[in-house]
Amino acid sequence: MAGAAVSRRALLGGLGVGGVGAAVGAVGAGAWKASADTAAPTPHAGTVPFHGEHQAGIATEAQDRLAFASFDVVSTDRADLRDLMREWTAAAASMTRGLPVPGSSSVLEAPPADTGETEGMPPGLLTVTAGFGPSLFDDRFGLARRRPARLRDLPALPGDGLDPDRSGGDLAIQACAQDPQVAFHVIRNLARIGRGVVQMRWSQLGFGRTSATSSTQSTPRNLMGFKDGTRNVRGDDAARMRDHVWVPSNADQGWMAGGSYLVARRIRMRIEGWDRDPLGAQQEVFGRDKLEGAPLTGTREGDVPDYAAKAADGTPVIARNAHIRLAAPENNGGRAMLRRGYSFTDGVDPASGELDAGLFFLAFMRDPQVFVDLQNKLGSLDALNEYIEHVGSGLFACPGGVRDEKDYWGRGLLA
Ligand code: HEM
Repeated sequence: MAGAAVSRRALLGGLGVGGVGAAVGAVGAGAWKASADTAAPTPHAGTVPFHGEHQAGIATEAQDRLAFASFDVVSTDRADLRDLMREWTAAAASMTRGLPVPGSSSVLEAPPADTGETEGMPPGLLTVTAGFGPSLFDDRFGLARRRPARLRDLPALPGDGLDPDRSGGDLAIQACAQDPQVAFHVIRNLARIGRGVVQMRWSQLGFGRTSATSSTQSTPRNLMGFKDGTRNVRGDDAARMRDHVWVPSNADQGWMAGGSYLVARRIRMRIEGWDRDPLGAQQEVFGRDKLEGAPLTGTREGDVPDYAAKAADGTPVIARNAHIRLAAPENNGGRAMLRRGYSFTDGVDPASGELDAGLFFLAFMRDPQVFVDLQNKLGSLDALNEYIEHVGSGLFACPGGVRDEKDYWGRGLLA
């Protein structure tokens, strides 16, 4: 194990990894040619810096794969929680560099510190993002007075069909990477490290990012076949990130400065019904054309929707209940969020015989009320409601970034 770890490190060293740009640049410059003609260039070799002002995995250009888990703390000792956050942080920092979980993995008499399934694999642009749920701030750990006023359980929202076994949790971990095994490895190892202190409450794997989250990224498609993320807040748009995503330094709880609130919603799609609908009806649901992604009032994806435009019969071209009309920031007091969701499919629903598939909606924002207000509106008016149901939910306060090796997730809260 230790030897293999060295070879992983050597691979990284060879690529001159210093950040996403550096790593990807090295691949583009032909660094892979040296290895073998059979080794096709892959986009998986880069690393994303773990330390910084903000946690990685929020402004980071969305990777292709997700492993997400929510945990309940089963210990009632605050010191246990603090020690776990220290250990989790060190493990996450190491894994994002493409290295194993710190500790010995070569003692025959002891279980290896790292479970080993990513040995020899590149880091795959891995990011690990942590958040604290409202339930952590009850009286178990004496944290009630450290709860940000904005961190409250999400209220019941119209059309909710929430499964309590896929909702809530004291802690959340979002692991995103270009490779599913790299993302899963994080959740598995953090769960293992946390044994006795935390217990996994629910988890979700995601494939296929459903949002463009940078100005250079192409727009992907969700499982309904529509481009998603066209008008998203972009991680490289500093002004919009400041205005809509990052919690400001004068927040009521200093430990949240530079952080963000994460809303997670497991949204089931009634795919079979959707697939039987005519193209025109599908396009009316979103207010966009399916192939190009253009608003129905335009011809190109980037065209700005014209919500005032009327058809010859006087009806709005973009229907009153079209998803984009209802969701657009200009129709919601200018308030926006950064959507960073993933598609999921978890086999067949035994009750209906239909696919259990949909969108694992993840969105970051500086105030979760933005989601609550929008979902109150969408849940009662959106044409999309005929085809979807929100079945899981979580709200998590993601603290500001881990600054250096001595810092750890939530130090300002738990120290
Ligand atoms: C399965 C459920 C959903 C699907 C399939 C879906 C799909 C889409 C699509 C295709 C777009 C247009 C492209 C774009 O600008 O990104 C869009 C826009 C948007 N959606 Fe959703 N969405 C879903 C749920 C939600 C939820 C729950 C929210 C928030 C409560 C939301 C908020 C938004 C916002 C803010 C926009 C951008 C509107 C704009 O700026 O014009 N969506 N969505």
